[in-house]
Amino acid sequence: TAPLATHLTIFGATGDLAQRMLLPSLYGLQREGLLPPALRILGSARGELDGEGFRTLVAAAIARHAPAGERDPASLRAFLERVDFQPADVSSPEAMAALARTITAARDGGGAAYHLSTAPRWYAPICAALGAAGLNDPGARVLLEKPIGHDLASSVAINDGVAAVFDEDRVFRVDHYLGKEGVQNLLALRFGNALFEPLWNARHIEQVQITVAETVGVEGRAGYYDEAGALRDMLQNHLLQLLCLTAMEPPAHFEPHSVRNEKIKVLRSLRPLRGGDVASHTVAGQYTAGAVGGTAVPGYRDELGRDSRTETFVAVRAHIDNWRWSGVPFYLRTGKRMPRRCTEIYIQFRAIPHSIFAGGGARVAPNALVIALQPEERIALALMNKTPGLDRGGVKLSQVALDLDLRHAFAEQRRFIAYERLYLDALEGNGTLFVRRDEIEAAWQWVDGIHAGWRDADLTPKSYPAGTWGPASAVVLTERHGHSWRE
Ligand code: BG6
Repeated sequence: TAPLATHLTIFGATGDLAQRMLLPSLYGLQREGLLPPALRILGSARGELDGEGFRTLVAAAIARHAPAGERDPASLRAFLERVDFQPADVSSPEAMAALARTITAARDGGGAAYHLSTAPRWYAPICAALGAAGLNDPGARVLLEKPIGHDLASSVAINDGVAAVFDEDRVFRVDHYLGKEGVQNLLALRFGNALFEPLWNARHIEQVQITVAETVGVEGRAGYYDEAGALRDMLQNHLLQLLCLTAMEPPAHFEPHSVRNEKIKVLRSLRPLRGGDVASHTVAGQYTAGAVGGTAVPGYRDELGRDSRTETFVAVRAHIDNWRWSGVPFYLRTGKRMPRRCTEIYIQFRAIPHSIFAGGGARVAPNALVIALQPEERIALALMNKTPGLDRGGVKLSQVALDLDLRHAFAEQRRFIAYERLYLDALEGNGTLFVRRDEIEAAWQWVDGIHAGWRDADLTPKSYPAGTWGPASAVVLTERHGHSWRE
């Protein structure tokens, strides 16, 4: 692993992600006393800002986005002492050379991390400039934000550009879902308990659903979003990572190679969707005007101010063609402007083979495990129970959940947000929760097949009113096979 980084450069340090997530997370680590004591943070972006101006921006970002109970002047002051800024237009070789000189001086031989939070087309040029200045020594690592490209070819080009400068074990590709407490708990649930693993396969599991529903619309990112759409923006990365953690074989160790070696096998086992399969296995939707949580909201095209065929909702019936999962559908769905925010994994077990209660006409619903990741963190196991009573005319059964509220169970613990965990891991050189090149490329390859199918069929997304669970055809996707979405 790379040595501890005591220098961090953030490219794109004045951008939306930096202000909402990156800077408040670093501040959170400062407040918790977890930043390496010697760490210096250098922001860079286009524009005329100086160190003072940047520190004012950082303070404002923390005041807005750090958790309400965690804004204290002493921590802020200590944090700002670490922070400096140097403007650079990444398209200008002179500016990049000047920035590289500053970084060299600031590092003073110590370990370094460079966090690229710019448009991805600049990743390769930035790395080239760092390499030209000799800043790609073994003590250095680079963090890359998503999206890495918009299809397989563009992601290969970006990864090639980065690989020309940094070895793969020095490249930390961020998928912030892997930094989430609930997502890591999925591994604890599966591999810290003996109970589930024997049942975790096609013999005992009927279907799996992975839902990432958001209530927000495109939030001022329409330029990017309209090029991307839900399939590229969410499914290619976050949902496929959740799929990997749900479906992978037990890794031998919780360390980068073991975990990622298992994830890539899942991605490579995804049955390719091509041609006519795309129409029968996927649904694209786009929201029209409606109401979310009682508030009226405009449709996607109204927000955009023009016509568009970009999907804001996508649902896929996926299959993992291997021994463990043969025949089990994995329903994936994600959308903007859904009725409520919710990320969850739903595992439905197979029905009992024979009911001894059939005489009473009792319906025996299959067991199900619900793993809610956000906003709630909850594990619920739906079990059949006897409905209390004298059972004249036969036993009555009801489904009741064994319900574990993790926020309550761990009420004493501070909740670390995703980027806090990821920054700390990256500064310490631990890549377990970062995405390897082969994973990104396998994910793009699969997603490219869906895009090609949509393109060939000249598909227009089906509309759905904001505040609903997507177009009617998403319901058909499951019901046709005797399954229903959990709502
Ligand atoms: C980002 C997407 O990767 O994830 C956004 O680009 C989306 O469109 C966001 O809103 C969701 O993240 P979270 O942490 O709020 O679930």
